[in-house]
Formats: sequence, structure tokens, C-alpha cells
Amino acid sequence: MSWQSTTIAILILACIGYHQINASALMQQRNRRSIDLNAAHMLISDARLDKAVIPTAYKLEFTAEPEEGKFNGVVWINVTWLEPSDEIKLHVHQDLQVTQAVAMLSIYSVENNEPKLKTENVRIVRTERIPKKPLYVLHLEKSVEKGTDCQLQLSFSGQLSNETSEGVFRTSFADKTSNECKWFVATHMRPNNARRVFPCFDEPSFKTPFELKLARPKSMMALSNMPLSKTTDMENREGWVWDTFQTTPPMSTFTLGFVIGELHNIESGAVDNGVNVKIYGRRDYLEPLKDVPNRTRRVVKELQSYWGLDFPLKKLDIVALPNYYAVRPADNWGLIFFKESELSRTGVWQIAQEITYQWLGALATPYWWSDAHINKALASYMAAWTAFKIDNGAELQGKWPMTILYSLYYEFSKRYPHARITGMKYETTASKTELIFRMFNYTLGETTFRQALRKFIREKEYKTFFGDDIWSALTEQAHTNRVLCRQVSVNEIAGSWITKDRLPVVTVTRDYKKNSAVLKQRVYLRDRPHDVPDQDKMLWWIPIVLVDEEKLDFHNYTPRVWMKKEREIEIKDLPKENQFIIVNPEEIGPFPVNYDIQNWNMLAQYLLNNQEGRSRIPVYTRAKLLHDAWNLAYAGDLSFATALNMTLFLKYERDHLAWDPVFTMIDHIGRHIDSSEVHKKFETYVRMLLTPLYEELGSEPKPDEDRSQTHLRGLAKVFLCRAGYKPCIEEAQAVYKKWMESEDPDEGNPVANQFICPVFKWGTREEWEFGLQRVINFPPSRKQSERTYLLKTLVGCPIESWKIDRILNITILEDNGNFTETDIYLIFSMLTGGASGYTTLFHFLKNNWEIIKVRFENKPHLWDSIITSATNVFTTQEGLDMVSELYVQRQGEFGTAEYIIEKALRNIKEETKWSDENLPVIEKWVDNYLEQQNSEEKVKFLRK
Ligand SMILES: *[C@@H]1O[C@H](CO)[C@@H](O)[C@H](O)[C@H]1NC(C)=O
Ligand SMILES: *[C@@H]1O[C@H](CO)[C@@H](O)[C@H](O)[C@H]1NC(C)=O
Ligand SMILES: *[C@@H]1O[C@H](CO)[C@@H](O)[C@H](O)[C@H]1NC(C)=O
Ligand SMILES: *[C@@H]1O[C@H](CO)[C@@H](O)[C@H](O)[C@H]1NC(C)=O
Ligand SMILES: *[C@@H]1O[C@H](CO)[C@@H](O)[C@H](O)[C@H]1NC(C)=O
Repeated sequence: MSWQSTTIAILILACIGYHQINASALMQQRNRRSIDLNAAHMLISDARLDKAVIPTAYKLEFTAEPEEGKFNGVVWINVTWLEPSDEIKLHVHQDLQVTQAVAMLSIYSVENNEPKLKTENVRIVRTERIPKKPLYVLHLEKSVEKGTDCQLQLSFSGQLSNETSEGVFRTSFADKTSNECKWFVATHMRPNNARRVFPCFDEPSFKTPFELKLARPKSMMALSNMPLSKTTDMENREGWVWDTFQTTPPMSTFTLGFVIGELHNIESGAVDNGVNVKIYGRRDYLEPLKDVPNRTRRVVKELQSYWGLDFPLKKLDIVALPNYYAVRPADNWGLIFFKESELSRTGVWQIAQEITYQWLGALATPYWWSDAHINKALASYMAAWTAFKIDNGAELQGKWPMTILYSLYYEFSKRYPHARITGMKYETTASKTELIFRMFNYTLGETTFRQALRKFIREKEYKTFFGDDIWSALTEQAHTNRVLCRQVSVNEIAGSWITKDRLPVVTVTRDYKKNSAVLKQRVYLRDRPHDVPDQDKMLWWIPIVLVDEEKLDFHNYTPRVWMKKEREIEIKDLPKENQFIIVNPEEIGPFPVNYDIQNWNMLAQYLLNNQEGRSRIPVYTRAKLLHDAWNLAYAGDLSFATALNMTLFLKYERDHLAWDPVFTMIDHIGRHIDSSEVHKKFETYVRMLLTPLYEELGSEPKPDEDRSQTHLRGLAKVFLCRAGYKPCIEEAQAVYKKWMESEDPDEGNPVANQFICPVFKWGTREEWEFGLQRVINFPPSRKQSERTYLLKTLVGCPIESWKIDRILNITILEDNGNFTETDIYLIFSMLTGGASGYTTLFHFLKNNWEIIKVRFENKPHLWDSIITSATNVFTTQEGLDMVSELYVQRQGEFGTAEYIIEKALRNIKEETKWSDENLPVIEKWVDNYLEQQNSEEKVKFLRK
């Protein structure tokens, strides 16, 4: 994930819930030795080697011929037999040719009490490729004894990739200085692409030394994991040389790497403790990299001091590779490749992320891919920690941990988490694990946490580990330091969090007479109905960290108590009845907390009225209180009046971190109540909430303002516009007018995206029609994504039903040739975003039933899609009545969509219950609120 894009991530988040598809039951597999669930990740089922013969060293000679797009080489692999066997199995990718294979045994015999070495050529009788697998077997003439050593010699050749950055690949770029096209040859072996480059035992657990000898033109330069050891002329080839690199420490195949090209370096000098960091790029791209050495050096220094361990190699080279396509940088040991634009942009987080892998991955390596997500989680945690240490959070701007935490809260509280994408499961599991590391850092204390990691890395350096080894190291240290009682292990605590795709919610009910409280845990469910099977069986180890109003101590994060998979506990010695408490401040553990009404109200009052005290509650905690309150109300676990009371202090709040959850709230609640009259009142409230903030920020960015201010202004503006804030609409219309007046409006769109939706929503018929014509006339030569955006907003933004009717008439009834099936599909899904959209679609469907039925006769996906969009999103009794009526009227005619409408009816019933309970509460609260504002202000805000 990139922290750089300050675009409105939460808006995207906000939309996730609305296009769910049924869950496919996901396999959950427990690895024998590790707490691990990521069976969905494809690498786990990669073709495995048996462990009869294992490698002990590699020597690789490699020649790339970039002009021809080819490469060739020879690899000598020292292997040893752990079991008697007459075959050697290794990884060779289907695209890699093996041209020759020789096996030379080394047999030690004892003669006259002296060990004597004898070498013997053992004949390879047959080689075999296993069909459809990247496996290659050498069948030997006889079985070889356990303990025998052997050196294999394999010659190979293959094609350089030029369209992907996998294995060994070629990239080219235009060199401005010489006006020539130049190339680089580089590698990206992670995760299992070494087998595309040379025959090898391509599993992370086989760690061996590597010696590399690379051919290159004299005019170029080559870098690899280790420093250069010598350069010799190449026989028979004018202008080429061999570069031999020093032998590496034991390492996995995926950390091997090299690059050949015209590289130029930016001098940066040595870091403390002697590691030599150098930054390389092409000649024309050195200026943008000029402050990379400084940033890198600070990261390395910070990480060295964290681990209490020098950088494991003698040097670290970082290369900005032109036209590098892979999503992630290539983190070879001692040699990292970045995309140019990624390396040159500011900040240290991304660099820290990659450099952390030099220790966690290269030095100590997960045994198998099933252990990789814990490693990834720890590395991400360390990267964030390092970035914080260097700039005190300025770069991450609270996105860490808040953005990942909130998305976990939304995902895990759905009825079917990860219903859509299995890849997402891997990501969310890793994110959750990252937050569990953060939780342990707080609850065990930073010292214990660091001591444990230091010990862990020392024990595992140059070796491999299992996920559980990290938790065990934490357990041991926690016991030694007496921060965790002997009977409990960190493994057990972590397991209770990692093995479930759920999170808990803790409810605190205080007894104000006895100064005590009852704490209950249960699974956190936000989507209704809360009918998740087995929820009674789900229990967690939950740290209860508690802050009270009197002390407001936000430094001591030692849990007062752990909920040991107990459903309910009682805690005593709480403050007096007129003082609030906060449980789980700073989101120490990834779980929301609910309180009794009195405690919520004390919090709301304090935040609103105590000007000086408010800032003593850190912003993460302020954000948490707000975020928990409205989400619990949304889930039906708290009165909206109480939750909305928690928003009152926003009048004084100017930190974007506290505001971020508010925008999501406006979006989610706004959608939910969109079809009722309450929504108009709610929009008035939103305008009153946001206007002072927006006016204070000013409509234009100030020079040198903080990025967070720009971000906050952007969001405030988007939401004000949506809520009908006049100045915003006028501005948008003024910009739009220029487009309408331009000579050839189909040539390009001069209107910034942010202005388009307000115009389509609040603008005139003429303006909207103009937009429609632009979609219809959109020239094929222009970027189609611009057309898609225009179509989306044209359909998704309006609130007047004639606009929607019009587009449905054109696309469906008139079968205008300008709209594809994909467009129609998109139109249906956009219409679920607002009540006006799906209500209009519903009437359209009802009124044109026969025509539509014929039209989509052979397009079941479109039929299903229109039924879904036209029925599924209603939230009120009125909607329920309408949909039920249609269901009865057209019984037996729904075809493939029969189950869709039945499911829709169930959903609407559930949502109607919600609306019946909550709409009156929201309305009353907003009425009350508007009442209290003075009439002058009211006049100002009520006009639309
Ligand atoms: C690999 O095996 C060869 C032949 O037995 C031997 O000469 C060489 O020293 C071995 N290399 C390593 C790194 O052990
Ligand atoms: C990549 O290589 C293939 C085969 O060598 C060749 O056909 C293709 O044109 C190359 N593509 C580029 C972008 O150079
Ligand atoms: C590195 O950057 C930091 C922050 O921008 C600055 O304080 C420091 O002086 C720089 N160090 C060097 C050696 O340029
Ligand atoms: C909301 O706050 C007001 C005071 O500002 C209080 O009177 C009211 O009881 C609160 N409502 C709820 C439901 O907590
Ligand atoms: C859509 O078509 C219907 C029936 O043909 C017509 O009555 C209605 O006026 C049209 N609506 C718009 C906005 O064009």
C-alpha cells in the first residue's frame, strides 16, 4: 500500500460493503508448527522437493545477451545425500533449457586410519521433466549412499523476459545524453523465480553460499549481493570481461540478485558501523535521487540500533531501475531494486520496509511460504516503527495504523469476511498480525519486545525459522522480564487473534455504586443480521488497558488485566462515579469498546467542554472514541443519540486523524438513511459540522502547508459539495461552463474530477444533458477511463429521477448503440449508491418488465444485476412493501434471479428493522441540535 496517495482511501473503503457477492467457504488450514491461515496464498502449494538430496553450495557462471534477448550459463551445485537415493530432483522452470548435466561424486574412504577422498563420475542415465511442474529429475545409474557429497554441473540457456520483471529480465530506456536506447539486465528471484534463471533447489529453506561470475561488456558495470572480488578479461570475446563476486554467506535462492548496465552512483559515504551504502541510477536520473543516500543511511542506522546488530553484509546497493514493472521492489540481499519513481519520492517508510527484509527474510528466513506472512507482518511493523522513529509520524500521518485498522474493522465485522477475493484474505491476515505485534509492543513493553526480537534474530541468523519461533521468543523474554505470567504464552494469545477472521468487541458496564465494572467480550459484527454461526465459541485473549479521567495517563500501557478467553470479568477500584474511564486507548488491541450510556456521556461532555483537557487525550484515542461510537450505533449496539453526542466536540477539533472517521460516518449513515426525509436534515447537520472547518482551512491551499491540511480540506470539500454547500456548487458550475462553451468539447475534458459530481448532482438539466452527449460522442482515441468516470458520475451522482430515467431509456429501451454491456452493468451498480438511483431503477423495472425481460433473455448476468440493484438496497418499510408487491406480482418470472429477490427481501426486512429503530432517534437528535443553533446561523445554513 502506498502512503503517498492522499486520495480518499476511506471513500473507497466506504463503498466496499455494497457489492457483496456470496462467500465461498474458505479453506482454513493450520500449519503443523505455525499459527497460520494463509492457505489461500498460491505459493504454499508450490511444487516441493523431497529432502533426500540437498544443496550445500552454488557456483554460477552467467552470460546475458540482451541484444538477442537470451542468456546462458553453467551452475555447479554441491549437494549431499541425507537419504540413499538414485535420483536428484531440482527446480527447473518449463522455459529454461538444460543443455548438459554431469554429476561427480566425492567419496570419502578410510585407508590406514586416514580419510581419503576419491572422486567418481556417476553416470546420469536419464533426465526427466515432470509434466506441468517446474521439476527436473536426474536419474543416476545407481543408488548413492547417505552422507555422500557430489558436485553437479548443469549447463542451461533461456530467454530474457522483456515484458515482466521476473527471473532475469531486460529493461531499456532512452538515454538523453547520448540519444541512444540503452538496456539493463537485472533479476527478480522472489518468490520462486530463481528456477527461471538456473537449475536450483528453489525453496527458501535451502540456504547455501553462492559464488557468482558474471559476463558483461567493459563499458558497463555489474552489481550483485556481494562486493566484487576480481575482474578478468574474457577469452574469445573482445570488449567483454568476467566479474567474480565474493562468496555470499548462506542464503536462499530468492535473495540472489544482480544487475548489469550503465550505472552511475551517488556518493554517500559509509554509515556508522562500517556498512557501505550506495545509491545507483541511470545518468539522467541522478538528480531526483539526491537525498536517497541520507534517507537510506538514517534507516539503516535506526535498524542496526534496533537489532543491536550490524547490517549483515559489507555493503548495500540500492538501484533505481528504469521500467521496472514488478509491484514490489526486488529485495535481494545487499542489492535492492526500486522503481525509479518510488525511490525518488520523499519519505523513509518504503525504504525502511525494504531494508527491514535484509534482516527478516535474508538474514533469518521463513522456512516456507506459510511462515512468510508473519515475517511480512513483523517487517511492516518494524518499517512503520522505524519511520516513526525518524520523523515522529510525519510521513505516515496516522495512516499507520489507522487505515489498516479501520479496514480490518469493516472487513472482519461483515457477515462473510473476504467473500470476494482470496488474495485479500492473505493481506488482511498479514495486517492483523502486524497490529498484534503492535499490541505486544505496548502490552509487554517496548524493552521486552525489542530484547526478544534481538535474541530471535541472533539465534536464527543465516538460518530459517517458523512463524511460531517469533512468538516463542516473545514468550520467553516476557517470562524472563516478568511481564507475563508463567502459565501463559504469547503463542496462545497471538493464536486467539490470528486463527479467526473475526475481531472481538468489549462492552464495559460500570456499577457506579460499587466503583466496579463488568467487561464482556463477544465477536464484533457490524453487518446485520448478527447471525454468524459458532459465535459463542469465539473467545480471545484481550488486554485491558485502562485510563481514568483523573490521571489521564497515556504512557503506561501495561494491561490492568487480561481477559483470558473469558466471556465476562469484573474489575474493581474504578474512579468515582463522576469520572469517565477509557478502555483500550490508542487502539492498543484491534478491538472496539462499548460503554454504558453514562460513561459515554461523560466522555462526550468532557471532549466538548474541557478545552484544555481535550488535548490531553491523544488524537488516536479521540478518533477511536468517535469511530467506535458511530460504528457501534451503526451495528445496532448503541443509541445513535449517544453516538451523535460524541460528534459535538468536532466543533473544536482540527486534527485530521480525528476527522477521518467522521467522513466515513457521513458516507455510511448518509447512504443508509438516504431514502427518508431525515436525510435532508442530516445533510444540514453535515453542512453545519463541516462549514466552520472548511472556512477555517480556506478554499485554497496555503504555501507550504502540511499535507494533512490539504487532505482534510479535500475531504471537507467533497462532503460539503455532496451535502449541497452553495459556494462549492457555484464554483463547480463555473468551471463546467468553460467546457460547455469550448469549441470542440469532445477533444478533451478541462474539468477537474472533483467538480463533475456536484454539477451532475445539483446542476441544471442542460448541464447534465451536455455530459450525456459527451459520453455518447466520446472519441475512441481518448482514454477510455475518462469516459468511464464520466458515465459513473452521470449515473451515480444525480438525485433527480428524470436524469436516471433518461439514461435508462436510452441504454435499455432504445438500445442506443453507444453503450456496451459493461456500461450497462456499471450503470446498474452505480445506481445502488443512492436511494433516488435504486428507487428509480425499481420503478423502471416494474414499468418496463416485459421489454426488459426480452431484452436480457440471453444475458442472465445483466438480468441478475438489474434485479440485484433494483431491489437489494432498500432500507425501509416502504421499500419492503414495494419489493414484496413486485415479488408477488411477478412470481415465477424471475428466472435465475429468483434467489436474488428472496435474499433481497430478507435483507430489506433486516434493514427496515434498523431504520424503524434508528431513524426516529437520528431525526430527534438532529432536530434538537438544529433547534439549539441560533436562528441567524440557521438561516445561513438552511438555504440550499
Ligand atoms: C564443492 O565441491 C567441490 C568438488 O567436490 C569442491 O572442490 C568445492 O570446494 C566445494 N565447494 C564448497 C563451497 O564447498
Ligand atoms: C520481447 O521478446 C520477444 C521474444 O524475444 C519479442 O518477440 C518481443 O518483441 C519483445 N518485446 C519487447 C517489448 O521488446
Ligand atoms: C539528512 O536529512 C535530515 C533531515 O532532512 C537532515 O537533518 C540531515 O542534516 C541530513 N543529513 C545529511 C548528512 O545530509
Ligand atoms: C446527549 O447529550 C446531551 C447533553 O449534551 C444529554 O442531555 C443527552 O442525554 C445525551 N443523549 C444521550 C442519548 O446520551
Ligand atoms: C422514458 O421513456 C418513457 C416511456 O417511453 C417515457 O414515458 C418517459 O418520459 C421517458 N423519460 C425520459 C426522462 O426521457
